[in-house]
Amino acid sequence: MSLTDEGHYGPKQLNMLKTVWGEGFLSPGGKEEIDEILKGIDLTDKKVLDFGCGTGGAVFHMIEKHNAAEVTGIDPEPLVIETANKLAREKGISSKVNFICAAPGILEFKQESFDIIFSKEAFLHVPDKKILLTELSKILIDDGIIAVGDWMRNDDQEPSDQMKEYIAAEGLDMYMCSLNKYSELLEETGFSVISLNDRNQWYLEVVQKEISDIKGPLYDQVINLIGKEEADGALEIWEQLLGVVKKGEHRPGNFQAIKKRK
Ligand SMILES: C[S@@+](CC[C@H](N)C(=O)[O-])C[C@H]1O[C@@H](n2cnc3c(N)ncnc32)[C@H](O)[C@@H]1O
Repeated sequence: MSLTDEGHYGPKQLNMLKTVWGEGFLSPGGKEEIDEILKGIDLTDKKVLDFGCGTGGAVFHMIEKHNAAEVTGIDPEPLVIETANKLAREKGISSKVNFICAAPGILEFKQESFDIIFSKEAFLHVPDKKILLTELSKILIDDGIIAVGDWMRNDDQEPSDQMKEYIAAEGLDMYMCSLNKYSELLEETGFSVISLNDRNQWYLEVVQKEISDIKGPLYDQVINLIGKEEADGALEIWEQLLGVVKKGEHRPGNFQAIKKRK
């Protein structure tokens, strides 16, 4: 039994992540980290794409706090999109959001459909980042901005055994590259890099707090959701995550880049 045995982002996994990271969020840092990824970017009246939108936390925040005109979220997981649509209805902002369940690799949008492309902790699930950035570039306007947070690695060598064990324990497809690699690929795919921001130290503190919360105030809630055996299993994975973050091999990072004019 594991958190992903009902699908990578199935009911158990969604409930667990919601408990630790909050409603609408399938990645750490909440609204503050979304603001960090978007630092200096004006979304007012802009059309935005959230690639790998999950249950919509960032989509809602970009409308409610950043005044985006319209945000489209795409994600390959049906339950994730269903949950995002339900939350949008509860918030009364369905008319400004468009959640689409699309198979991996499918971006059926006209060229230059978006002013801004945002993504958080979803690029890691895509094996070929060059193809991804090339395809995203096509649907972004000239001078449009891409702002991304992702789980990355310290380098692009073979991962250590410790890292491989952690990834296997997660049970998710994870293809992590370095922030430097993203910088190279952005320049190769028609973007100019605006900023690169290593978030390893920030996440080290966050992951320590996540573990103490799961062991402490959230423990009963987590057991009620997934049972003691799986709660303890999830904690073990979190401890493995802490190990690779502390070691400096697992390095969340953020980048912003602007699409060059042709
Ligand atoms: C760690 S979650 C992050 C979700 C959301 N961005 C957030 O921060 O809460 C990763 C998301 O990427 C989605 N995903 C997985 N493979 C993908 C792909 N090939 N293309 C786009 N999204 C993908 C998953 O379904 C999941 O919702």
